[in-house]
Amino acid sequence: MRKDVRILLVGEPKVGKTSLIMSLVSEEFPDVVPYRAEEITIPADVTPERVPTHIVDYSEAEQTDEQLDQEISKANVICIVYSVNNKKRPRFIPHLLSCDSLCSARVPLILVGNKSDLVEHSSMETILPIMNQHTEIETCVECSAKNLKNISELFYYAQKAVLHPTGPLYCPEQKE
Ligand code: GTP
Ligand code: MG
Repeated sequence: MRKDVRILLVGEPKVGKTSLIMSLVSEEFPDVVPYRAEEITIPADVTPERVPTHIVDYSEAEQTDEQLDQEISKANVICIVYSVNNKKRPRFIPHLLSCDSLCSARVPLILVGNKSDLVEHSSMETILPIMNQHTEIETCVECSAKNLKNISELFYYAQKAVLHPTGPLYCPEQKE
């Protein structure tokens, strides 16, 4: 049995990483958030899988690439957050997925489309080809920090991905 789970949120600036964490913790949408939330620990007895869970934020504004690499290597699961109202393809996803530290971390990844309150349509069409190409992506979820939609589900999926992994946790190109 694992002793704890460490969840890291990454993604481009302003996609809502910090808001997602604050919404989970306070069960309401915060109007103002710092760049980076303090690391929080959810005690075992209030998590669905009964395992203490650490949630770690990332902010490009406050952290260096080296610090990001370090956090990636410590994480048990990584949530790649994007904003579903971004007209452009979520271009950072392929970029992040080809990043060496993420690849060698060999942890499950979860694609998180935030700000679902701002759009009518789902972003699944753009996301599916990426999912199919990257088997290390465990699952994807659309949510909204603003109206609290799918927030607890998101963290449950992340916890579950660590405790009950289904996909291969390696980059096929790098497999020895
Ligand atoms: P950095 O720390 O700069 O990397 O940004 P971040 O990804 O932590 O985003 P942050 O939580 O600071 O949110 C950026 C902006 O998006 C803020 O103005 C939030 O209020 C807004 N925002 C966050 N989540 C949602 C959401 O679900 N819906 C809407 N409509 N706005 C959101
Ligand atoms: Mg932030």
